[in-house]
Amino acid sequence: MPRKSRSGLVFRKLWPSERDKVRDHFLRLDPEDRHLRFFGQVSDDFIERYCHEVLAAGYVVLAGFADGEVRAVGELRTYGAPGRRKAEIAISIERPYQSRGVGTELFRRLINLARNRSIRTIHSACLVDNAKMQRIARKFGCAVEVERGQAEARLEPPWPSYFTLMEEAVAEGRAVIHTLLLPPATRLPGRAARPGRAPGADAKEAPAPPIPASEPTEDRKA
Ligand SMILES: CC(C)(COP(=O)(O)OP(=O)(O)OC[C@H]1O[C@@H](n2cnc3c(N)ncnc32)[C@H](O)[C@@H]1OP(=O)(O)O)[C@@H](O)C(=O)NCCC(=O)NCCS
Repeated sequence: MPRKSRSGLVFRKLWPSERDKVRDHFLRLDPEDRHLRFFGQVSDDFIERYCHEVLAAGYVVLAGFADGEVRAVGELRTYGAPGRRKAEIAISIERPYQSRGVGTELFRRLINLARNRSIRTIHSACLVDNAKMQRIARKFGCAVEVERGQAEARLEPPWPSYFTLMEEAVAEGRAVIHTLLLPPATRLPGRAARPGRAPGADAKEAPAPPIPASEPTEDRKA
């Protein structure tokens, strides 16, 4: 039986066929969180295009699943020449799963994935008033610099170790078994969530996302 995090989510890398689940996750984000994640108000069409490009480009996307739905996403976008490979980390968690250590867990796992790919430098940008994201980055020893309304976290991770390689392999194996072999009802304790709804969503209807003011400008991150 795969171990769940204390949040109750099961983490694994996304498969290319699951692109729609990431899109649905981004579309479910609270408007404020969508703003924090994409550095501005972005339209549903922008998210559709973004998911198409991100997953098609072969970036590593780590997802936190509850009852078969993606409730948390961590992206590791790698670039640069061999030997000087860099990566950028971005994270988004749906409201009912925030402040339960999920962001910290995703950040930790993404650093491990970066180490296992011999990434020399990790960057993670967020808006300057995103105190939670900066707190998470600092917990992992990132240096955080603030410039022009953005906070940029930077880390030079160690080389991969036996333990980081084993952790990735074992976690993947467990999560795949969990996904393929166990019926949804046995994956989480308690009442199964209604499709497309997060636990707690029944208590209060989430506000409708605002009409996007604009697509991100040049200096906003995609
Ligand atoms: C930012 C985000 C990823 C954090 O995820 P999370 O699962 O809620 O975070 P965690 O529970 O793992 O940890 C939050 C940490 O911030 C701390 N924190 C909470 N509010 C804080 C505040 N106002 N100021 C400083 N630290 C704060 C918490 O105490 C915790 O630290 P601790 O573990 O040392 O106690 C999540 O809120 C999110 O998805 N936001 C929208 C998208 C986004 O902002 N992405 C980042 C840019 S890519």
